[in-house]
Formats: sequence, C-alpha cells, structure tokens
Amino acid sequence: MPKEQAKRTKLVIGNWKMHGRLVENAVLLQAVAAGAATLQKGVRTGVCVPAPYLAQAQALLGGSLAAWGVQDISAHVQGAYTGEVAAGMAADFGATFAVVGHSERRAYHCEHSDLVAVKALRALEAGLTPIVCVGETLEQRDNGSTEQVVGTQLEAVLLMLSEEQATKIVVAYEPVWAIGTGKSATTEQAQQVHAFLRAQLASKGAAVANVPVLYGGSVKPENAEELFAQQDIDGGLIGGASLKSNDFLAICQAAQNGSV
Ligand code: 13P
Repeated sequence: MPKEQAKRTKLVIGNWKMHGRLVENAVLLQAVAAGAATLQKGVRTGVCVPAPYLAQAQALLGGSLAAWGVQDISAHVQGAYTGEVAAGMAADFGATFAVVGHSERRAYHCEHSDLVAVKALRALEAGLTPIVCVGETLEQRDNGSTEQVVGTQLEAVLLMLSEEQATKIVVAYEPVWAIGTGKSATTEQAQQVHAFLRAQLASKGAAVANVPVLYGGSVKPENAEELFAQQDIDGGLIGGASLKSNDFLAICQAAQNGSV
C-alpha cells in the first residue's frame, strides 16, 4: 500500500436518510456501538441520523467509539426559519458530523453550492465537522463534465473557508448515478475523481490535502474493500447498507483491512 494512504485514518459514516423509528434504531445503534469497539485505531465510524433521533444516538452511542451527526443543517445560526435545524442544536446533542450538500438536498431542495458553502461554515463555527458532498449526474458524466461539476461544487466551499477551517472538513464523492442504484462507480472511476479532488484540496494548502475524501454510492460489503484500498479513497459514506448492522459493520471491517 502506498505510504501516503496509510497515514490517513479511514472513516466510515452511515447516512440513514429518512429511515428509522425509535425501536429499530435502538437495535441498530447498539450494534454499531458494539462493532465500533472492535475496530482498530486506523478506522473511525459514525452514523448521521434524522435530527429527531439525535438524543437517542447520543444516549446509545455516547461513551462508545462511534460518533453521530445530522444529514443537513441550516445556513442560519438561529431565527424565524420554520422547520430548520441549526448546527448549534445538533452540537447540543453531542453531534460530531453534519452532512452538507447531499445530492438529494441539491436535487429536491434546490440547494446550490454557495448555500452548501455557508452550511459548511456554520457547521465549523458550531464545532461540527461538515461532510461536504459532491457528485455528478449520469448525464454530466456522459458528456465529460464530471471534473468540472465536482470541482465547481468543492471550489465554492473552499472559497468560503480559511485554510485552517478547510483542514477540518470531510469531502464525500457521491456520483448521483450510483446512489441507491446498486451500481457503484468502478474503483478506477472513483479513484480518478478522488485524485482530482485531492489535488484541488492541495491547492488550498498542504494540510488541506490530507482531509478525508470518502466515496459514497452503493457501497456494500462486497465492494468496500477494493474501493477503500484505492490511494485516495479514505472510507465511505454509506446509505442503504448502513441500515443493516451486519452490512455496515462488515464495511467498517473492510476499511480496517485496507488500513493495516
Ligand atoms: P447508497 O449507499 O444507498 O447508494 O447511498 C449513498 C448515499 O447517498 C450516502 O450519502
């Protein structure tokens, strides 16, 4: 394994999306807490839950090696923004992570990259780690604009942050066509985009080049190890498979195999 890759901790984060209810969550969270205890130092894990379940995540993951977070936050600090959840509110419940700019937010809530950048800043101000999602549609891939699309999405965030702030983000490359489709990017496709994103991060500052760049999109126990073995893939953002504890923990295990 290249030395450069071995230095970076692997990160496997579940994104539950709008799934879960109290009773079933408890079983899943307990399994994640137990599974996290079996991971070695080179792998970190966590789950981003629907905001109403933050307190439950805090109760059941608190004291474990698993972190928790939210799937979106408001671009505002507080105020008359009905229905929104501020970064500080998530931080009150011990959250570590806030996903920002997920393609489902971009597509269904018209979130543009400048808004995503403000959300990343709000997360950092509240002490949360923003997981900044970027990714192209199938049409964009087919017409050869993948790098231009993800580059523009990431650039908006890098422009908003200082170099020091940028060292504290996580980036997730999630090709839209691979999300929930069962059709993952090939390792070569993913690595190519990750290397591109890494170079863009490096242009913000040497320390920024080492932020984790996760892959998301139909990651399963069967393809995780090969993906995570790529030089610039530092782990995964896991949707569907994060709802099944056995699959999620097998993916965490795959990250471990790639990190030793
Ligand atoms: P799937 O793993 O279900 O494809 O979802 C990926 C994703 O969108 C994670 O944020």
